Amino acid sequence: MHNPANLLVTGGAGFIGSNFVQYWIKSYPDTKVVVLDALTYAGNRANLPSVEGQDNFQFVHGNILDQDLVEKLLKEESIDTLVHFAAESHVDRSIQGPDAFIETNINGTHSLLKAAKASWLDEDSNPTKQHRFHHVSTDEVYGTLKSEEPPFTETNQYLPNSPYAASKASSDHLVRSYHHTYELNVTTSNCSNNYGPFQFSEKLIPLIIANILDGKPLPIYGDGQQIRDWLYVDDYNRGIDLIIRNGRAGEMYNIGGNNEWANIGIVKLVCELMDELVSDLPATPSESLITHVDDRLGYDRRYAIDANKITEELSYSPEETFETGIRKTLKWYLDNEEWWRKVIDGSYHEWIEKNYVA
Ligand code: NAD
Ligand code: TYD
Repeated sequence: MHNPANLLVTGGAGFIGSNFVQYWIKSYPDTKVVVLDALTYAGNRANLPSVEGQDNFQFVHGNILDQDLVEKLLKEESIDTLVHFAAESHVDRSIQGPDAFIETNINGTHSLLKAAKASWLDEDSNPTKQHRFHHVSTDEVYGTLKSEEPPFTETNQYLPNSPYAASKASSDHLVRSYHHTYELNVTTSNCSNNYGPFQFSEKLIPLIIANILDGKPLPIYGDGQQIRDWLYVDDYNRGIDLIIRNGRAGEMYNIGGNNEWANIGIVKLVCELMDELVSDLPATPSESLITHVDDRLGYDRRYAIDANKITEELSYSPEETFETGIRKTLKWYLDNEEWWRKVIDGSYHEWIEKNYVA
C-alpha cells in the first residue's frame, strides 16, 4: 500500500487532470498537490476553481520537458507521487501535425522518468522510501477491434494506428522499461473515452452540446457507427486513486465504463436530452442538425475495455452508467456556459488572469 502525501500532477489544468486534482483534494484534504502545466491551448486555470487559493494547492506554469524544473519540484516539495496526465491528446490534431505529439508524449514522458529516477533513486539518501510514478495512458494503444472480438485486456498486443496512439504506446513502453531496468516504482492506466465537466470543446460531447445551443451542424465522422467505451471522468479518478494506493508496481490496468456506444447513438441521446432540458433551442428537434462528414484518416472502428483485472485486484467498479453520467455532464455545461464560451472564443486566458489568478 502506498500512501501519497505530496503529489506532482502534470497536465493538471487539462480536462482529466483538473478533475483529478479537484477529486483528490476533496478526498484527501491533508495531502498537498502541485500542478505542473504548460497551459497549451488545452490547459486552463479556470478548470481548477474549487482548489485555487487553497494552502495545499500550488500551480506551476512549466513544461514537462524541463527536467531541471521537475527535479527541483520533486526535491523542494518532497514529492512522493507523480501522476502524469500531460499530453497532446486530440487524435485529429495528431493527424494534421504529429510533431508536438512526439515531443510532449514521448520526449516529455522520458524527461519526467529521468527526473524521477535522478531524484528518487540516484540522489535520494533513502531510496527505499515509497515513491510512485503513475502514467495515464489510453486504450487506443491496442488498435481497433472487430465487432465479434472480445474487449481489450492488458495482454492484448500493442497495435497503435494514429500518431497520437503511437506516441502514447511509445511512452507506455518507456515507463515499463524504467521499472524493468531501474526498478522505478511505476503503474500505468489505459482507459477509454472520458467525458464530464471541463472537457475542451474540440471533443465530441462538449462540441455537440455547444453546437446544439447555437443551432450549428453536429458533425458525425463517416457513418457514426464507430464504437467507444465511455467512462465518466470521476469514475476514472477513483480508478487511478485505487491504482496509486494499491496497484502493483510495474503493472498496467485497463479502466472502462462498461458503456459501449456508437457515436451516432451518443449524439442522438444528447440531442434528446437537450430537447428535454432546454426550452428555447434555436433548432428543434436537435437531431435535425446532424450532418455526416468525412471520417478521420485510418480510423479505428471499435474500442472496448475488459476491466476485470482492476475489478478483481482492486475492487473497482464505475458508479455511473452512460445515462446518469451524461445527464450530470449536460447539467454542468448548461450551468457553466460562460466557461465553455470563453474556451471556444479563445478569450479565456485574459478572463482567467482577471478572475482566477491571485
Ligand atoms: P487535455 O488535452 O485536456 O489536457 C492536457 C493537459 O496537458 C493540458 O492542461 C496541457 O496544457 C498540458 N500539457 C500539454 N503539453 C504539456 C507539456 N509539454 N508540459 C506540461 N503540460 C503540458 O487532455 P485530457 O483529455 O485531460 O487527457 C489527459 C491524459 O489522459 C492524456 O495523457 C491522454 O492521453 C489520456 N487519455 C485521455 C482520454 C480522454 O478521453 N480524454 C482517454 C484516454 C487517455
Ligand atoms: P473525440 O471526442 O475526439 O475523442 P477520441 O478521438 O479520443 O476518441 O471523438 C470521439 C468519437 O467521436 C470519435 O470516434 C470521433 C467522433 N467524432 C465525431 O464523429 N465528430 C466530431 O466532431 C468529433 C470531435 C468526434
